[in-house]
Amino acid sequence: MTTVIDRIIKDHQHMARLLDYLDYEVSGFRKGSEHNPDLKIIIEALDYMHNYPDAFHHPLESRLMARLRPRLSTKEERFQFDLIEDQHRQITAMTHRLVEAFHTVALDQGVPTNLLLAEYTLYSELQREHMRLENQCMIPAMQSLLTVDDLVLVDNDLKQMSDPLFGSHLWEVYQDLYRYVTEREKGLEPVI
Ligand SMILES: [Fe+2]
Ligand SMILES: [Fe+2]
Repeated sequence: MTTVIDRIIKDHQHMARLLDYLDYEVSGFRKGSEHNPDLKIIIEALDYMHNYPDAFHHPLESRLMARLRPRLSTKEERFQFDLIEDQHRQITAMTHRLVEAFHTVALDQGVPTNLLLAEYTLYSELQREHMRLENQCMIPAMQSLLTVDDLVLVDNDLKQMSDPLFGSHLWEVYQDLYRYVTEREKGLEPVI
């Protein structure tokens, strides 16, 4: 049986891959870059971050952490959970701002490139730091403290939303992104 913990670990692997592709595409905006950024892919990837990790993955983690919190034995663990929750709020706000900023770029309404790059870099670093913290602190706590009853309770949540890009049912709006990811993973166009 796939548990919620397996799902969270898998989501992190998917998000890390997507961030690699986003990093590569956004770096096309840098002065002197030898490739052009694929704006459509950037927007689809950020839209996916908004519609799946921000809308489902992080809230799911938050619910599980709320259940686990009373079972934590150290102040340090509670501090780390608080930090993860703060990061959820920051990430959601930043995804929203970036989606808007890249839509503005697509409309050719002049967003200063240095600001765009700076904001994106902060976002990418925060996402990676967030997953590192969760993998290091939250996942082990879940593995040792969640009970079978907890897992059964959240199992219905899992059925409510499958991953719209990497899951069993691909959303039509992510068809280009899915093709992009698949092509790169076949090694046709390796990410540098
Ligand atoms: Fe998270
Ligand atoms: Fe996570």
